Amino acid sequence: EMAEKQGYKHFMLKEIYEQPESLKRLLEANLKDGSINLRQNGLNKDWLADYDKIHIVACGTAYHSGALAKYLLEDKLRIPVEVEVASEYRYRKPIVDSSTLMIVVSQSGETADTLAALRLAKKEGADVLALTNSRDSSIARESDMIIYLKAGPEIAVASTKAYTNMVAAFYLLLIDGMKQRSEIKQQTIKKYTSDLIKLPEMIRKLIDNSKAQIKLLAEKYALKDNIFFIGRNTDYTLALEGALKLKEISYIHAEAYPAGELKHGTLALIEKGIPVIALASRSDVFAKLFSNLEEVKARGAETLLITEAKQNFKEESIDHLIELPLLNQDFAGLLAIIPLQLLAYYTALECGEDIDQPRNLAKSVTVE
Ligand code: G6P
Repeated sequence: EMAEKQGYKHFMLKEIYEQPESLKRLLEANLKDGSINLRQNGLNKDWLADYDKIHIVACGTAYHSGALAKYLLEDKLRIPVEVEVASEYRYRKPIVDSSTLMIVVSQSGETADTLAALRLAKKEGADVLALTNSRDSSIARESDMIIYLKAGPEIAVASTKAYTNMVAAFYLLLIDGMKQRSEIKQQTIKKYTSDLIKLPEMIRKLIDNSKAQIKLLAEKYALKDNIFFIGRNTDYTLALEGALKLKEISYIHAEAYPAGELKHGTLALIEKGIPVIALASRSDVFAKLFSNLEEVKARGAETLLITEAKQNFKEESIDHLIELPLLNQDFAGLLAIIPLQLLAYYTALECGEDIDQPRNLAKSVTVE
């Protein structure tokens, strides 16, 4: 096992470090002559016109990738997108038919609830596109189309590199869809493509540049009982993923809230010294998010802001700052998630927990 970890203390850390490489693998597999090409995945050029709506269904971390995708796909492609956890979807009566593109997301391709949701949708006539890391899985076999994630084997229960490639697969789908919308300029599509290609190298640098600072923050967080994550738009979905990562391996209670919802309840829990981590990879909602941060700071919270380097704000509301390199805000989420993965890892390390095998959890949940 030591050999498999290649000198890393845990698989999770190894997998965090593998992200630039595994992301590059996915991107290269879907690029042809510098442009996105998903045809090899069974998506013909006009797939967007074939559907009235998209249903994204998944569990856990995979669900969080879908939650992020909903914001981007609806914004740019103007097609209704619903996203739901599979264990809810399969036990209600969703409105799904042959005009629906169902997208299931699953690292293992074997999650029982996700597979059941897929079967339900297929029975009603929907086409199914799977984003999966396992070509030989039940989900891969039963789907009509596949974007193979190419993340490589993921051993740690807490998903990192698979999540990154799930989100990136949605980015690919987004650009492919943009090409089918005549109102979107060629120039915009080119820019999105070149921004996407920059990500692996930016992630590599970010891991190296933020690690030391995050280790120090982790020493503080390891002593806390509760940690809150806030964000708006896609940043809210990163908050969900950051909170899940932290709670599943450090066992510290962590909750994510849409920043605008704080005043409807959670604000009551903010008291002196409670850490609040604000995700702000998007500039369009930065001002709104920042005013929420000021509200929690005024009530004594210890604040960490994760945002792009060029943002202007009043420094007195910030206790800690992690700066992200500048990138298209639709893709900057994959930068913002990196410090959250490292924070979860190093906090759990401080707490002395079994990082790769957290109590009560399994890598793949193949029974209900
Ligand atoms: C389990 C794992 C999670 C994973 C979820 C969905 O809960 O511990 O890391 O996100 O299952 O798994 P899947 O293989 O369908 O992506």
